[in-house]
Amino acid sequence: MLIAIDGPAASGKGTLARRLAAQYGLRHLDTGLTYRGVAKALVDTGQPLDDEVIAERAARALDLGALDRTVLSEHGVGEAASKVAVMPAVRPALVDKQRAFAATPPGAVLDGRDIGTVVCPHADVKLYVIASPEVRATRRWREIEAGGGSADYAEILADIERRDARDMGRADSPLRPADDAHLLDTSEMDIETAFQAACKLVDARMAAGNGD
Ligand code: CDP
Repeated sequence: MLIAIDGPAASGKGTLARRLAAQYGLRHLDTGLTYRGVAKALVDTGQPLDDEVIAERAARALDLGALDRTVLSEHGVGEAASKVAVMPAVRPALVDKQRAFAATPPGAVLDGRDIGTVVCPHADVKLYVIASPEVRATRRWREIEAGGGSADYAEILADIERRDARDMGRADSPLRPADDAHLLDTSEMDIETAFQAACKLVDARMAAGNGD
């Protein structure tokens, strides 16, 4: 079983992916962390974010097992990651590692921007999770405040809109739903409701078996 979950920043795809992985006994990879890992490695070693040769080298050297969510979750790292992610040489280096993860038994849930379209086009279930920019900015703001930080709502909203435009507008692997993805709009849905809706889709796919 391979589940692909795509969507924009703070759409709720990460939480959904984690819960689905736990529910069905699958491995989980947040592919955003791989782009964040490359960006952080460059920043930490004082290297530029816009040199494709250097960024590709960092991507090839990345160890998926060493990604530290706490460090990489920092808000500014996401912005740097979306700059690194537009570079065509960086993407295949990370996609190779993501595909190897997906191919390892017993199956996996991968979440990101291009899982259903590029990384795992043959996934058994594809979800495209969206929510309005205002709802997503509010979620991100609450997350930061709950973690003891302080954040400016207007700045977060602007950041989300800027990142959406960069992710959807890039030439290589832009954020878009796969033709066979199920759309899940979580603007007015709590995580439990979204999870139940996703489980129904996965259960239906499992009941149908894999004889296609
Ligand atoms: O958690 P959040 O949605 O804020 O970001 P993320 O999923 O950690 O991804 C950070 C950035 O990495 C995104 O803005 C994308 O530019 C890039 N990314 C990508 O290009 N392809 C993926 N499969 C995952 C992330």
